[in-house]
Amino acid sequence: MSRIKFYKEQSLPLEMHKVRIIQKLNLLPIDERLKAIKEAGCNTFLLRNKDVYLDMLTDSGTNAMSDMQLGAMMVADDAYAGSETFYKLERVCKKFFGKKYFLPAHQGRACENILAKTLVKSGDVVPMNYHFTTTKTHIQLCGGRVEEVFIDEAIKITSDCPFKGNIDLQKLEKLILEVGVEHVPFVRIEMGTNLIGGQPVSVQNVLDVSGICKKYNIPLMIDASLMTDNLYFNKVREPAFMDKSIPEIAKSISDAADIIYFSARKLGSAKGGGIVVNDKALFDKMKVLIPVYEGFLTYGGMSTREMEAVAVGLEEAMDIDMISHGPEFIEEFARILASYNIPIVTPPGGLGLHLNAREFVGHIKEEEYQSASLVAAIYLVSGARGMERGTLSEERNPDGSEHIASCELVRLALPRRVFTLSQVRYIADRLAWLYDNRHLIGGLRFVEEPSVMRFFIGRLEPTSDWQEKLVAKFKEDFGESL
Ligand code: F0G
Repeated sequence: MSRIKFYKEQSLPLEMHKVRIIQKLNLLPIDERLKAIKEAGCNTFLLRNKDVYLDMLTDSGTNAMSDMQLGAMMVADDAYAGSETFYKLERVCKKFFGKKYFLPAHQGRACENILAKTLVKSGDVVPMNYHFTTTKTHIQLCGGRVEEVFIDEAIKITSDCPFKGNIDLQKLEKLILEVGVEHVPFVRIEMGTNLIGGQPVSVQNVLDVSGICKKYNIPLMIDASLMTDNLYFNKVREPAFMDKSIPEIAKSISDAADIIYFSARKLGSAKGGGIVVNDKALFDKMKVLIPVYEGFLTYGGMSTREMEAVAVGLEEAMDIDMISHGPEFIEEFARILASYNIPIVTPPGGLGLHLNAREFVGHIKEEEYQSASLVAAIYLVSGARGMERGTLSEERNPDGSEHIASCELVRLALPRRVFTLSQVRYIADRLAWLYDNRHLIGGLRFVEEPSVMRFFIGRLEPTSDWQEKLVAKFKEDFGESL
């Protein structure tokens, strides 16, 4: 483990890698940041990267690659059909997940499209620990519906539950009996639940859910996109697995699942995706959809260079030194913020640091998007862009009213092995200033609202001149140029 004791300093996460390629960053003065966020419709997805100092939007496709990955990319076997690179990736995926069949896809949601089209029919219900935006959309587009059966602790913002991502077994069984086995095409476990703060699932919970699935003959599907962080937490938080190696823990999880898919933009620290199964009939059904939606069966929308990088990235995902950086930096970030009494999700999870916007800016009306307002304010005062993970990421109710999210969060992603501890301390310091001046943050309203996944490209405006007032106070305290 890389978190080791120090002699004089308090212990810190210690990087088990060195930086050999760098990218220059810009930190625009606050007046230019104000202009940039207004031009982006107060939506951090619409900011231009050149206007961003720390890009904490996501870990998707932004993890740092290793020298081994970059080297492998240079020897990719480029071919539309039958590339040796594909067979290498297929071999690694089958080994990593212990399954017989592998299908390539260009990213995680592409796998979800293939899986939903193959398995979900009108009226179906898919139980899961927590939904992910794209997953839910694909299931709904096929006429199905998502039912979340998370444990009560999952949406308690502050908790000491080590595995808030776990499924509530009683709720799951009750739901299956209520809707009828024939309407449950599969049960989905998201390993590392994204929308509630990268919270992990215990191996024991996977085994228990698998037992219920077997009892009713329902396939168990695992979304392994965030599995590296989850494996780290299984090793450090789950007593029965502390003495096990990462490959052993991964095997216990994979063996319990019938279908596994992943976004290699996260898992594998490259770009791509894939599905693995043991069921030949299911594989054959999905296989025909790959050339329709993705590309030929031996690339599935990925470039051969990316396939090489994914293959090496998956092998590196078995190395605790490679996968501990993210969760340990997030833990350190959380420790600093907690020392300033800033409301965050606890225990810290994977993927990123999650702020509790409902408490940070509780004075803003829920319909005026607390998380989205906070994320715009964070960009203004720091140049860091985070992501809204709250009501704005939900769809409206059928009657047009807002569906208020169960958690109103701001995610500051820490793409793996990208940022330094001084950058983490900088953003923590700006958050401390913002928290002390939080009364200046106001709400947002839509000026352009897409009907599907509005958070991606929707445009908003402040409901008052709060952004100008926040900027004025910032300049009073820090001067004009920061
Ligand atoms: N499943 C999970 C758990 C995810 O976090 C994501 C993506 C996907 C599926 C879809 O994968 O992006 O490759 O199509 N999460 C990204 C994020 C978008 O920023 O959290 P994808």
